[in-house]
Amino acid sequence: MARQGQGEGATDRVLAVLADGAVHSGEVLAAQAGVSRAAVWKAVERLRHAGHDIEAVPGRGYRAVAPYPPLDRAELVERLAMAPRELDLRVFREVDSTNAVLRRDPPREDRVGVAVAERQTAGRGRRGRGWCSPPGGIYLSVSWPYAHLACGPGGLTLTVGVFLAEVLRSLGIARAGVKWPNDIWVDGRKLAGVLTELDGDPMGACRVTVGVGLNWRVGGGWPEDFAGSAVGIADLAPGCERTQTAAAMLNAVTEACHTAPSAGERILGARWRAVDLLAGEAVIVRIGDRAVEGQALGIDDDGALLVDSPEGRQRFVSGDVSVRPR
Ligand code: BTN
Repeated sequence: MARQGQGEGATDRVLAVLADGAVHSGEVLAAQAGVSRAAVWKAVERLRHAGHDIEAVPGRGYRAVAPYPPLDRAELVERLAMAPRELDLRVFREVDSTNAVLRRDPPREDRVGVAVAERQTAGRGRRGRGWCSPPGGIYLSVSWPYAHLACGPGGLTLTVGVFLAEVLRSLGIARAGVKWPNDIWVDGRKLAGVLTELDGDPMGACRVTVGVGLNWRVGGGWPEDFAGSAVGIADLAPGCERTQTAAAMLNAVTEACHTAPSAGERILGARWRAVDLLAGEAVIVRIGDRAVEGQALGIDDDGALLVDSPEGRQRFVSGDVSVRPR
């Protein structure tokens, strides 16, 4: 992994040994990770502090509860659709926010920036909210340069959602779909979210940072209020491998970024309708203090949500949508 501080190499090696979920004695861990017993203890403390559930089994050693294998940079590079020379790829064990890091320190003008992290300490969500980013999730961002972004960041978000849902379906998550504007849901639970941030003017040269937060396994260590409404890839498709999944998600985002400016309308047509989870549902759209109830009708050519309400047809360019139980 890139950009490690002192001790992080040892911590990663200890984590890699614990990734099989078996109990390992301190002695075996030290030998396999190539570190001292004291360094094993420190590594375990660091991992726990970072949110890993590591159990001490009396008289036997340590065991990672629901472990995940770390992302493998070399394999990621191999699986990415874009050539390494086109990319500025950064892989982090921990970072504040993959979106923030690409905006703070943008890639060279002619490169596409890609940041992937195992954990974020200040993950950002839509509408200024935070994004819960415990270790094991997949947090990725793509920074894409445009000479002109006809569909605007909103249209790009929808396009990315379509590509992500299609890839998730191809990975075996057949009921993955998009809840307008930026959520990927499966059976009423959130699997992923998209945050698109724009630097510059979409009518001229600009850069868009598209961030995707994908839950891996929802359970121990998650705040209770999230746990009931979220679901992870490993919960739904236990055969999915982390690095392969991260690469597939990144390829979906880069393909969406590549396609959006010229073909937004086509993509937001039949392909949108095939993954749209709201059309036909009874919804409540909240914007500030206002709440509008009605039936979702899909989106218009500009990506706005259409809702048939008692006051007539309404059009929303932003807002929080909840689905009313049938
Ligand atoms: C949402 O509010 O649903 C969007 C969440 C987007 C979270 C991702 S995680 C990777 C990238 N980095 C961030 O800080 N946020 C996005």
